Amino acid sequence: MTLDIFSVVGGKEATGGTAYDSINPSRVDEVVARAHLADAGAFAAACRTAAAAQAEWARVPAPVRGRVIASVGRLVEANAEALARLVTREIGKPYAEALGEVREIVDTCDFFLGEGRRLYGQTVPSEMPDKSLFTFRVPVGVAAVVTAGNFPVAVPSWYLVPALLCGNAVVWKPAEYAAASAHALYRLLAAAGLPDGVLNLVLADGEQTFAGLETALEEGTVHKVGFTGSSGVGRRIGELCGRHLQSPCLELGGKNPMVVMPDADLDLAVEGALFAGFGTAGQRCTSLGTVIVHESVHGEFLARYTAAVAGAEIGDPAGEVLCGPLLDHRFAERYEEYLGWIEPHHTVVSGPVGRITPENPRGGFTGSGGLYYHPVVVDGVRADDRLFLEETFGPIVGVTSFGTLEEAIALANRPGYGLSSSIYTTDPKAAFRFRAGVGAGMVSVNNSTSGAEAHLPFGGNGKSGNGSRQSGVWVLDQFTRWQAMNWDYSGRLQKAQMDVAEIVPDPGFRL
Ligand code: UN1
Repeated sequence: MTLDIFSVVGGKEATGGTAYDSINPSRVDEVVARAHLADAGAFAAACRTAAAAQAEWARVPAPVRGRVIASVGRLVEANAEALARLVTREIGKPYAEALGEVREIVDTCDFFLGEGRRLYGQTVPSEMPDKSLFTFRVPVGVAAVVTAGNFPVAVPSWYLVPALLCGNAVVWKPAEYAAASAHALYRLLAAAGLPDGVLNLVLADGEQTFAGLETALEEGTVHKVGFTGSSGVGRRIGELCGRHLQSPCLELGGKNPMVVMPDADLDLAVEGALFAGFGTAGQRCTSLGTVIVHESVHGEFLARYTAAVAGAEIGDPAGEVLCGPLLDHRFAERYEEYLGWIEPHHTVVSGPVGRITPENPRGGFTGSGGLYYHPVVVDGVRADDRLFLEETFGPIVGVTSFGTLEEAIALANRPGYGLSSSIYTTDPKAAFRFRAGVGAGMVSVNNSTSGAEAHLPFGGNGKSGNGSRQSGVWVLDQFTRWQAMNWDYSGRLQKAQMDVAEIVPDPGFRL
């Protein structure tokens, strides 16, 4: 029996909508859930519902909102295995990674439950007597959150948890191909006791969402947009928000470089490149794009990397594998386009390329009806190649070489993204020079490009985002606005910059 899932707005399940089947990418014939997709009008209506519910939620004391977030964390923890199994089934993420993803929600809740008792403002000295200055964090209002499906529950929680904690109402539009996982997370959040209308789930496709968002922005019912997805869509959302004088929180693609210095621990670098390149089947925004390896260790690195990739387990994500299937048909199709970017001057050092099928097996594994692809390592990538310059969401890693650290930094920055980056070296000077020179928002030293912890600022520059940051205290600036208050209790009008006492120094004084 197919599980039917619907949008939930104002605590009520919607009816109707266009049917969309979210499938299991490791057995594409299996429907995980039939989602009923809403249209633009329903999205805009959800934003009105959220706007009507927000003021009352903002009046709930922040420590009490923090207790709700604590309950979300405990509920997610208590349902961790069930949620992780659903994530594995719906998007093919290996179960161990899916459990890690669920853990990331719990970590986020643990961090923000305490923020309910902080959410500090400041007391600031005034330039005049009998006057006090203060700052307050004020919720923005309604946040519209649009998320991708590669992290169908953890990355949404980076928005939902702080947005709700700060006193905002939310309309959340998850990826259709991850609708069942999103619906399950919604139910866990609702079970924590959120009042109706404070969190709304809208299942919709991208175009209807965009049109609904346009209406909502015109109607003034959305005050912050959070978006995780491609740079192309991020640009459109940025333009739309800009027209309404809003700055969205944009978490976009990456072409994340890994620099391997001549003094690097090569086995460690290989381990990092294996996980960053092929964990989550290369479908993290932090996945490894290009290994930039010093010419003196290029051959040795490549030999060890190729061996490691050849030995990696690919298969049923319910088992202990490095790499499961791609997320969904549309990702598989797009990935096949990226494979077309392999050029005659490249050398594929990893073996067969393309979908794993009985005709194109990987050893004994024939793909068992899923969207499984061979992991690909391409050597000889040049700085002007499409493969070097653009994100290739999927299991493909380019390799190129460099002579000096300056060259490596220039190569790392060249694609113009700026999400994650990594350097393997035993020389602290190189690590700090790389940090200072690389344009990425995140830098790993002797660690892979993936696997950021949930309480450091997460976000990118350039084509990877607009400088907004998620996670930790930094995301509070996305979901609150600073309000400045001054209180003059002198009983007269003291004019700033004019009625200020002056203490005159003796500028000519010398010892
Ligand atoms: C993403 O792919 O959108 O740092 C987020 C990481 C994870 C989050 C990835 N913690 O790889």
